[in-house]
Amino acid sequence: MCGIFGYVGSKNNAVGLTLEALKKLEYRGYDSWGIGVEVNGRFIIDKHAGKIGNAKTNLPSSNFAFGHTRWATHGGVTDINAHPHLDCSGKIAVVHNGIVENYQEIKNLLTERHKIVSETDTELIAHLIEDYYYYKKISLYEAVRQAFLKLRGLSAFLVAETSSKTLIAVKTGSPLVVGIGKGENMVGSDVNCLLSLTKNVIFIEDGQLAQITDSHINLFSVETGKKIKPKVQKITWEATTATKGSFPHFMLKEIHEQPRVLENISQNFSERIANFANLLKRFSKIYLVGCGTAHYVAIAGSYILSKVANKEVIPVAGSEFVYKLPFLGKNTLIIFLSQSGETMDIIEPLKKVKQKKVKTAALVNVFGSTLYRLADYKIWLEAGPEICVLTTKACIAKLGILGLTCYDLIGKHDYGNQLLKKCINDLRLILNLKFQEKYLDPLVELLYKKQHIYVIGRGLSYPIGLETALKIKEDSYIHAEAFSGGELKHGPITLAEKETPYFVLAPSDETYEATLSNAMEIKARGGLIIGLSEKPNDIFDYHIPVADSGIFTMNTQLAIAQLLAYKLTVKRGYDPDKPRNLAKSVTVK
Ligand code: AGP
Repeated sequence: MCGIFGYVGSKNNAVGLTLEALKKLEYRGYDSWGIGVEVNGRFIIDKHAGKIGNAKTNLPSSNFAFGHTRWATHGGVTDINAHPHLDCSGKIAVVHNGIVENYQEIKNLLTERHKIVSETDTELIAHLIEDYYYYKKISLYEAVRQAFLKLRGLSAFLVAETSSKTLIAVKTGSPLVVGIGKGENMVGSDVNCLLSLTKNVIFIEDGQLAQITDSHINLFSVETGKKIKPKVQKITWEATTATKGSFPHFMLKEIHEQPRVLENISQNFSERIANFANLLKRFSKIYLVGCGTAHYVAIAGSYILSKVANKEVIPVAGSEFVYKLPFLGKNTLIIFLSQSGETMDIIEPLKKVKQKKVKTAALVNVFGSTLYRLADYKIWLEAGPEICVLTTKACIAKLGILGLTCYDLIGKHDYGNQLLKKCINDLRLILNLKFQEKYLDPLVELLYKKQHIYVIGRGLSYPIGLETALKIKEDSYIHAEAFSGGELKHGPITLAEKETPYFVLAPSDETYEATLSNAMEIKARGGLIIGLSEKPNDIFDYHIPVADSGIFTMNTQLAIAQLLAYKLTVKRGYDPDKPRNLAKSVTVK
């Protein structure tokens, strides 16, 4: 999962435009970056390991440039392995998002005739195109097409060639969008990085190749080589340049935006939720599919739909959904949950499900993303751009919509909305600094040096526990794990030792008593009990009051987990917005 951008046209600050676009694409990977520019028929490359952040470059000005921000999949994080990669002539350059699964086979084909300088699969693509272009003497576009047909795996890449000042964009899987200008054209990994230059775009579909110069855009089928009439779309929304405002990090800003996000859903989503509830009524078999946090939202969704609406839905992790394909039929609905709408482990099953003509729906935060465009029925979360790699407000927005849908299904929308409004007020209380100074900051002092933190919860609090543990380990790098309270004595209780911290999610629901007994079992073995509960209890060594708002208490529990993860991360000196080894949108399998 990487960010790609290219520009060819009348403006002589192509390098500056590329640098700005890469900064907008950094959410897609931030371990290294690079820009290439054409000067007097040769490419000059400036590439580095490390975050692009506020980087500058001394590359000469030009009207033809391209760049990349990387999330390493093949080859370590080094200057050499950063993109762009060149062929032996230095006249063909490639930036790539994806994985070449048959790279060894390709490498064996090339090593005899080509000098390979990096550890990456991407550099091989440049030499493969060079092989077709220079040795087989075919056109650049045909050389790229032939090379692409030779590769296995999901890839999107951009090829630049000096003499023709041409960009060639080709993809299967990862997204690529062409921007159409007057006397200029560009290409990027998402719409947002193009919007400061144009509103007219072409979404490149799988198996398509776009040949882009400053005056022409030609679209071809990779398979047949035949020309395709491009579908130009006019983008109706504005570029989202999110800023931190007065907050030190995007994570804290986005946590503080959650009451507004839920308020918008409470006040403006009743028609969309009514339609969504009616859609669910039409299907007897429903899957909720997501990855990472979105998978935990799917599990939580299955609990609240069962508990409130007596409706069975099956939560599945996107990367494992393939095992459900044989059981889909016309009475099946697949609901995909995703912040970015580009997660490959979601897009792949979505395409397979559509091939089977099975109905799909999506709760997604990025308007115009692949999931948003391909799903039959979609709800845009309107949570606003989420820049921090850790998802917070998009997660709570999905839970808000699923929660209200439960009450809509039983004809109690207003009652559900009352509970949601109570939750919004409770969130505001928790976001108040006084609450944090009293209940969270002392706990951070207690925990920030810990090696292990565990979370237990039953029923709905189990998936909320999973998300709590994910937030802590994603950002603070403390090992954190969640268990269903009932599963503890079937093994994990072995981990309970003196002063081992356990978050106990004990809301005022049907799980309360049983969860407290589990807490007792841990305490008996010396564990430190941190109770997240409406009422204090002697079992708790530490109590964080969590007001009750029915099923929406889950959002209040999550906001506390997010704040704790944020504070532990800052206390341990790490960047809460860009944790190591992660990216905001996982566009590789
Ligand atoms: C959550 O904080 C992580 N960034 C990750 O688990 C994320 O939820 C997952 O990659 C799914 O992303 P999506 O919602 O954009 O599909």
